[in-house]
Amino acid sequence: MRLKDSIALITGGSTGIGKAIAVRFAAEGAKVAITGRDKAALQATAEEIAAQNGEVIWIDGDVQLKSDVNHMLDTILSQWGTIDVLVNNAGICSPAAFLDIEESEWDRHMAINLKGTFLVGQAVAKVLVAQEKGGSIINMSSVNGLAAEGDQAHYNATKGGINLLTMSMALELAPLGIRVNALCPGFIETRLTKPLIDNPTAFAPYLRTIPMGRAGVPEEIADVALFMATNDSRYMTGHCLVVDGGQLIKLS
Ligand SMILES: NC(=O)c1ccc[n+]([C@@H]2O[C@H](COP(=O)([O-])OP(=O)(O)OC[C@H]3O[C@@H](n4cnc5c(N)ncnc54)[C@H](O)[C@@H]3O)[C@@H](O)[C@H]2O)c1
Repeated sequence: MRLKDSIALITGGSTGIGKAIAVRFAAEGAKVAITGRDKAALQATAEEIAAQNGEVIWIDGDVQLKSDVNHMLDTILSQWGTIDVLVNNAGICSPAAFLDIEESEWDRHMAINLKGTFLVGQAVAKVLVAQEKGGSIINMSSVNGLAAEGDQAHYNATKGGINLLTMSMALELAPLGIRVNALCPGFIETRLTKPLIDNPTAFAPYLRTIPMGRAGVPEEIADVALFMATNDSRYMTGHCLVVDGGQLIKLS
């Protein structure tokens, strides 16, 4: 049990990568709080974790809203009294050509992906500082934060911002014993990537951009998140860790 008695908050924890992380952390003994916008999905994931003897609560909350973020933290602290790990995972991606991106879509991506990561990260960091027992914050970035993908200028910009936010947080929080790292997945099978997976004429050539020749699955990201959450990564902070089947190392 590598996270026994740890308390972890996972935003966007009812689906995809966030769900796999919540399931894995709970199996390793953590008490997990999952948050998101879809109450039915939150409840279903919480029931699944509880059925495997995991300790879990779910909180309906929007990461763009400071009042919702405060409510998430208040709920966790009143339930368990402390927090140790944050996985800042909630995010959206609606592809559009650069010349066609609406201002509202730009704002929506910035508000959920970048501002949300800041709001939850700052709120949790304040609690971690007051607790004086350290902690680990994992910001879910992407390979799109390190290289540009077409039709995703707004998404790319949020993930690039998350990487620099991660380094900035790490810099200021390291002396206080709090580690902050970014996890940069490549192409992972979730509902976010389903439109491409369901389009065989586009998906087959896309897979050829990945040296390992396949998409990743959420559990492969959860394994790395576990490493980043535990003491196994105790000397690592401000790092952007790429998990992409080799996609970023390929020139063409
Ligand atoms: N799937 C991939 O290939 C991939 C690759 C790199 C990075 N990522 C990142 O991983 C994270 C999870 O994505 P996923 O692929 O599991 O997709 P997903 O759609 O299953 O997960 C996103 C989660 O975020 C939640 N969410 C969205 N807006 C929210 C808001 N305003 N407030 C609170 N929660 C909100 C959703 O309810 C959902 O549970 C995202 O940050 C995404 O950018 C995914």
